[in-house]
Amino acid sequence: MDIQDERRRLLDAEGTDEYETVTGVRSEQDIYLDKVQNGKLYLAVFVSVLGPLSFGFVLGYSSPAIPDLITTNDDRVRLNDDQASWFGSIVTLGAAVGGLLGGWLVERIGRKLSLMFCSLPFVFGFAIITAAQNLWMLYVGRALTGLASGVTSLVVPVYISEIAHERVRGTMGSCVQLMVVTGICGAYVAGTYLGWRWLALCCSLPPTLLIVGMCFMPETPRYLLSQGKRREAEEALRFLRGPDAPVQWECARIEEACDHQGAGFKVSDLLEPCVYKPLAIGVLLMFFQQATGINAIMFYAENIFEDAHFDNRALGTVIVGLTQVFFTGIAALIMDRAGRKVLLCISGVAMTISAAVFGVFFHLTTGQHNNTSVRAMASGVEGSLGAGPEVDLAWLALASMGIFIAGFALGWGPIPWLVMSEIFPSNVKGFASAVCVLTNWGNAFIITKCFQDLLALLTNAGTFWLFSSMCAINVVFTIAFVPETKGKTLEQIQDNFRGTPAQFHS
Ligand code: BGC
Repeated sequence: MDIQDERRRLLDAEGTDEYETVTGVRSEQDIYLDKVQNGKLYLAVFVSVLGPLSFGFVLGYSSPAIPDLITTNDDRVRLNDDQASWFGSIVTLGAAVGGLLGGWLVERIGRKLSLMFCSLPFVFGFAIITAAQNLWMLYVGRALTGLASGVTSLVVPVYISEIAHERVRGTMGSCVQLMVVTGICGAYVAGTYLGWRWLALCCSLPPTLLIVGMCFMPETPRYLLSQGKRREAEEALRFLRGPDAPVQWECARIEEACDHQGAGFKVSDLLEPCVYKPLAIGVLLMFFQQATGINAIMFYAENIFEDAHFDNRALGTVIVGLTQVFFTGIAALIMDRAGRKVLLCISGVAMTISAAVFGVFFHLTTGQHNNTSVRAMASGVEGSLGAGPEVDLAWLALASMGIFIAGFALGWGPIPWLVMSEIFPSNVKGFASAVCVLTNWGNAFIITKCFQDLLALLTNAGTFWLFSSMCAINVVFTIAFVPETKGKTLEQIQDNFRGTPAQFHS
C-alpha cells in the first residue's frame, strides 16, 4: 500500500465515504478540514497572543512615560534628552539579542516552554522599572522587556503557524501584529491616566496571564513529532482540532514532511534551495519592513498632531494607535481571502505615495522650521513642526501620516511576521527565524538611532523621499520574489521552494 492509500485509509477509517462533490473531486485536505472544530485552536491562539500584547505594551510604554520621566521631581530617575532617547531605543537592542535567544530556545525547549519562559523577563523588567531608584534600573528594565519582546516576536508566530491549519492560518498569524498594535494603543490610553510607575505595573499584567494560561495549552504537533513523540502529537492535535477530526491523517502528513526535512540544522543546509531561498526572502522582508521608516514616522506622530493644532498630544497618539488597530484588524479578517502578496502590494503603494507626499509637505514648508525642529523631532521629546504659514498645510501632513500608518497596518506590519512563520522547513526554523528577528530589530535600532543624522544629511523632505523609494522597492520585491502562501499547508509551501510538485492535494 503506498503512502497516499495509507492516508486515505485514515480518513476512511473515520467514516469518510465520499470524495466526490457536485463540483468535482474534493481534496483529502478539504475532507479533513470539514471535520475540524476550531474553538480550542482559537483559545490557544488567544493565550499565545498575550505575548505580542505584552510586547506592544513595551513599545508603547515609552511614549507616555518619557515626558513623565523628563519632568519628574525625583532627580534620581529624571531623564535628559539623550537619556530619553536611550530609554526609548534600548528596547530594540534587547529585542535583537532576544531574537537570537528565541531561535535557540524554540529548538531546545520547544515552542510552549519558550513562550512561558519569555514572560519572565517581561515581568522582571517591568518590576525593575516600577521599583526604579536610579537610571540604571530604568535601562536594565527596558533592556529586559526588550529581550522578552525579541523572544516573543520569534516564538509566537512559530507557535501559531504550527498549531493553525491552512484555512485560518493567515488570520490567526495576523493576530500577532493585531495584538502588538493593541498593546501599543493600550499603553497610550493607560498612559493618559497613569504615571510611569503605575503604568509599568499595569504592563506586567498580560505576561503574567500568559504564563498561567500557557500551562493549559498544548505544545505544537510539529515540534512533538520532530522529537519522535507521536502519541503526544496526536493528543495535541485532538485538543486543537476537536473530537471529530481524524488526527492520525494530519499526523501522517506532518511526519512525512519531517522525514523529508531531516533532523537539526547543519551549516551545509544553507546550500539547499529550500533553505537559502526562504531565508533570503524572510531577511529581506524584515529589512524592508523597517526601511519603510514606520518607527521614525510613529515617533513623529505627536509632533505632527501638535502642528495641526491638536492641543492634546496624548489624544493624537491614541488616534494613531487606534488607526493601527483598526486597519490591522481588517488585514487579519481578509488575509486568508485576499492573500499575502496582494495586501503587501496595496500596502507598499499606499506607503510609497503617502511618504512622498510627506516629503512634499516638508519641502513646501522648509526653511520655516527645518533648523529649529529637527533635533526636537528626532529626540521625540518636544518641539513642533513649526508654526505660521505652514500650518495651512498641516492637513497634508495629517492625511499622509494617516494613509501611511493605515497602509503599513494592512500589509507590511503583519505580513513579514506571518510569512516568516510559514516558509522555513522545521529543521532550520529556529536558526532562520532568529536571523530574521535579528535583522528586524537590529534595523529598527539603526533607523531610530540614525534618524536624526538622516534628517541633517538629507533634510526632512529628502529623508521621507528616501523612505518612499524604499517602499517602492518593497513593491517590486514583493511582485518578483514573495511567494503566495494563502491556502497552502506548510508542507506545500516548502515543496514549492524545493521545486518538487506540491503533495497532498487530491
Ligand atoms: C514592527 C515594529 C513596529 C510595530 C508597530 C511591527 O510589525 O516590527 O517595528 O514598531 O510593528 O507598528
